[in-house]
Amino acid sequence: MREHVWRASPSLAMIKYWGKAVPAAGTGDADIAGSNIPASFSLAVGLEGLYSETRVRLADDGMDRVMLAGREADPVRYAGFFSGLRLLLGVEHHWECCSENNFPTAAGLASSSSGFAALAAACAAASAAITGEPVPHELLSQAARIGSASAARAVWSGFVALRAGARSAEQVHAPDWWPALRVIVVRISDLPKEASSRDAMELTRLTSPYYQAWLEDSPRVYAEALGALAARDLGRLGPLIRASTMRMFGSMLGADPPVLYWLPQSVAVLQAVARLRRDGAMVWETMDAGPQVKLFCLDKEAEGVCHSLLGVLPELEGRLLVLRVGGGLARVG
Ligand code: DP6
Repeated sequence: MREHVWRASPSLAMIKYWGKAVPAAGTGDADIAGSNIPASFSLAVGLEGLYSETRVRLADDGMDRVMLAGREADPVRYAGFFSGLRLLLGVEHHWECCSENNFPTAAGLASSSSGFAALAAACAAASAAITGEPVPHELLSQAARIGSASAARAVWSGFVALRAGARSAEQVHAPDWWPALRVIVVRISDLPKEASSRDAMELTRLTSPYYQAWLEDSPRVYAEALGALAARDLGRLGPLIRASTMRMFGSMLGADPPVLYWLPQSVAVLQAVARLRRDGAMVWETMDAGPQVKLFCLDKEAEGVCHSLLGVLPELEGRLLVLRVGGGLARVG
């Protein structure tokens, strides 16, 4: 059986998805295709240089199987994804899959976004080789979303939106829209996070009195961010990136029990960045479901930001990565 190999890069949200739309009653197969729909609006960039690589062949034993970095993954985490994919593609076969990341897994570097995007693309390619029908990107985005909503964005390169209530993401601008934009990833820890984003966002939805406020604020921050991105105006976009991040964490801290992904070093970086900004630097922070900090700035300032951070936090030596916006899917075999 022929192997199909695809890569996808992580999707880093500038404006955050946190929380799922409440599913309509019913548990039939059709519901799977409509599951895992975001309740908030997100706007993200694909990260050039980081990727998940997934190799897939059709299974001959009627079982779906996923190996992650050489270890068998929990089938329950993948069951809905594979059922949904069969439904969307109109096929009945199963897939045998192996996935590897070229960056730490499950530590808040958006590995589930790149993982499910590459998985959807490689499985769809294996199926298309049988059915003879190419799978449109929009369908890949839907399939990836069933696995992980941020993965719906990771099938596209560049600047990508996933609207509240949407089944698939859409590319807003290609990567060359803003060639000067850089992301600095500050790798605080390589350990897997303690709470999955899936469990944590559900706990937030169910128990945080601030969750409704988070959802109500989401469309406005998203719309303003789209405008700032269209104008390539980091002075306007930066504060919105920070606001979306901090309001998302505000909703998590209001959960019972509270969700806290930050480590002391994450806070040290946030404070150092605030000081850099006070000294005139144009650099803005975001974080996800893990302790890593990611910074947005322009190419002309990236080196200076790294240098200043290392000046105050020398222990970050070897843990800063400057990336361009790119990403999306690539066939490698
Ligand atoms: C904080 O996409 O990992 O990174 O849909 O349950 O798999 P599931 O969640 P996931 O959540 C990502 C949350 C976030 C923000 C974002 O990427 O928008």
